[in-house]
Amino acid sequence: MKDIQSIVAQMTLEEKAALCIGASKWTTVAFERLGVPEMIVADGPHGVRRVEDIHAVAAESLPATCFPTASCLASTWNVNLIQQMGEALAEECLALNVDVLLGPGVNMKRSPLGGRNFEYYSEDPYLAGEMAVGLINGIQSKGVGTSLKHYAANNQEFQRFSISAEIDERTLREIYLTAFEKAVKQAQPWTVMCSYNKINGTFGSEHYHLLTEILKNEWGFEGLVVSDWGAVRDRVAALKGGLDLEMPGPQARRVNEVVAAVRSGELDEAALDETVRRILRIVFKAKETPKQGTFSAETHHELARQVAAEGMVLLKNNGLLPLKGQQRIAVIGSSAKHAHFQGGGSSHIHPTKVAVPFQELKSHAGNAELTYAPGYPADNSFRQEMIDEAVALARSADVALLYIALPAFKESEGYDRRDLDLTDQQVALIHAVANVQPKTVVVLNNGAPVAMSAWIDGVAAVLEGWMMGQAGGAAIADLLFGKANPCGKLAETFPLKLSDTPAHINWPGDAGVVRYGEGLFIGYRYYDAKQMPVLFPFGYGLSYTTFAYSNANVSAKRFKDTDGVTVTVDVTNTGSVAGKEIVQVYVHDQQAGLVRPEKELKGFAKVALQPGETKTVSIKLDFRAFAFYHPEYKQWVTEDGDFDILIAASAADIRQTLTVTLESTLNLPCILDEESTIREWMADPRGKVALGPLYAKMEAEARKSFGGGDERYGNEGAIGMDLMEMINDMPLVSVLMFQQDALPAHPEDMVADLLKHVHNM
Ligand code: BGC
Repeated sequence: MKDIQSIVAQMTLEEKAALCIGASKWTTVAFERLGVPEMIVADGPHGVRRVEDIHAVAAESLPATCFPTASCLASTWNVNLIQQMGEALAEECLALNVDVLLGPGVNMKRSPLGGRNFEYYSEDPYLAGEMAVGLINGIQSKGVGTSLKHYAANNQEFQRFSISAEIDERTLREIYLTAFEKAVKQAQPWTVMCSYNKINGTFGSEHYHLLTEILKNEWGFEGLVVSDWGAVRDRVAALKGGLDLEMPGPQARRVNEVVAAVRSGELDEAALDETVRRILRIVFKAKETPKQGTFSAETHHELARQVAAEGMVLLKNNGLLPLKGQQRIAVIGSSAKHAHFQGGGSSHIHPTKVAVPFQELKSHAGNAELTYAPGYPADNSFRQEMIDEAVALARSADVALLYIALPAFKESEGYDRRDLDLTDQQVALIHAVANVQPKTVVVLNNGAPVAMSAWIDGVAAVLEGWMMGQAGGAAIADLLFGKANPCGKLAETFPLKLSDTPAHINWPGDAGVVRYGEGLFIGYRYYDAKQMPVLFPFGYGLSYTTFAYSNANVSAKRFKDTDGVTVTVDVTNTGSVAGKEIVQVYVHDQQAGLVRPEKELKGFAKVALQPGETKTVSIKLDFRAFAFYHPEYKQWVTEDGDFDILIAASAADIRQTLTVTLESTLNLPCILDEESTIREWMADPRGKVALGPLYAKMEAEARKSFGGGDERYGNEGAIGMDLMEMINDMPLVSVLMFQQDALPAHPEDMVADLLKHVHNM
């Protein structure tokens, strides 16, 4: 490792300021005299978008493997496979001379309308975090860096450069930061990329609380914070907030601003030095691994095919799939010939090759005769004659395979979706084909949920193919013909309709602000709380075999939060073909001091089973599996009490339930204050001891004054209510005010004395 300290000591102020902004769109500044090389970055996240001329403003990128996008990756629930994909991405980075790959993206899918949802993993922070850890570990194990993005709350494209996401601290911590936290603590990405948007009024690029207090100080992030491209408004404020590297560059004005700020004393040079150290550490780390070698495009294509096959989700199957023996197959839909396998925007990859779905079907279908009709146009026009042509083919076939891709004008980086719908032509096409051909299979290519209620009852099967990567066409054929057994499960809920979705009445915001009014309740947390039916629940997916769960067990019925507990369950393949099952563990808190979601995913495992085979799955639940973030204590908190552990095949399919008792080891500070209610005093262990005697007196006094318990009135008293129920929700001081005459001292003094007492206990 270079002696970074001595390099910093030799740098002029101008050089330090210059290092803090890119030399080009994709490179950092090199200093020959100091032996500081340039560092090259490239998008990400599901392939390497290495532009040919690294210093050009806009350029074609070199061929690289386009893996499936994040929606598909998360639906594999296979961390090892994603890690393997990370290793392959790193090999391509080494061959293409890329030091840092800009990904993964771990923002939550707050609404299915988010334009970039295809680049993000899930509506659940635990699952998203696990996926990110797998990908980062895979890439970085080969000496290539990653960029965890977009920190934080980049959950929509509408006004993404400026809108302020208004989120309370608990929701931030439990939902929007958790995946970042997991990835930082468990995988230490070399860089973290800030988001464009504001969070509670402050730009992501200037956010001291997020960048410095939480990311660097609390989580121990050792790498550098890079801006999203063009996300910096005020360079000096960003440096003070904790943003290290601004991209893209060069911008001489920025350098001058930083130099002037140090000279005027507005910016402490020690803070600039710390930024320079962080950047240099990563630049030198990047150069430890030589950029050389080649990669096997063929091997990576096959890996992309495997990932796609594991991530696709079989949503409906009336028994038609897997296909066997059909002699005449009508293939309908232009995405059968023009594969729709990735999304638009910065993640767009120049693939090494593309598996054309129609050709792949042909190679699986033996002697069967395949016919083709495009069914729908590339644009948004309505063309009845295309539907008529498709119907004629479907009618004379044994089975119709309908390839339906959500067009780019409906889904891309840069703009949000307006609805959950396929195009009118696509819906009419499905209806018309299903009408003449009951054996109709719909294969979807999209990055986020679409509504299906209008047509799903009429079709025999639905396969969610996602933005499936360059080899996805082959994966579809593998699944339809049973060469591979579907084993993906949804990483996000498919709602029945848009107006059911959690953020609906707070989307996409206006007047520069979007309020996260649903708080913790996104995804299944919301549908659970509302007891609302959905089209397909989180964690759902079919297989060509069946699985039974038995012998659920825990390592201890009663345990300390710091020890955690291990859950085991036997899973048996009860069908006749090999398959993989995804076992999910959710935790339900029976009683909590704060409102909590009905259940939350805290562990999962994917297990491969031959027919008849049984394996024991073991899942560890740690402190955080039971904790919630308490905004008043400003920390993660556990409470004594009973928790249900739900062992499930999906969020709506709980197979076994166990109850355990947690003992909290926390010694929380007392947070009672002048405004605390009687209920809060009595819920606090110290408050209860201190207030106990007075509480008994207050209760007696209340009964006396209002006749509660008097035989004339019964328990409800003279004013027809349970007085103590009301009193419990009043601040202590307010209750005492009403009883002043009977008290030995002034109510405010009494409360002050009690507070002094509890804070010293
Ligand atoms: C995107 C980032 C991307 C960057 C560089 C930005 O517009 O938000 O995800 O890494 O451009 O292309």
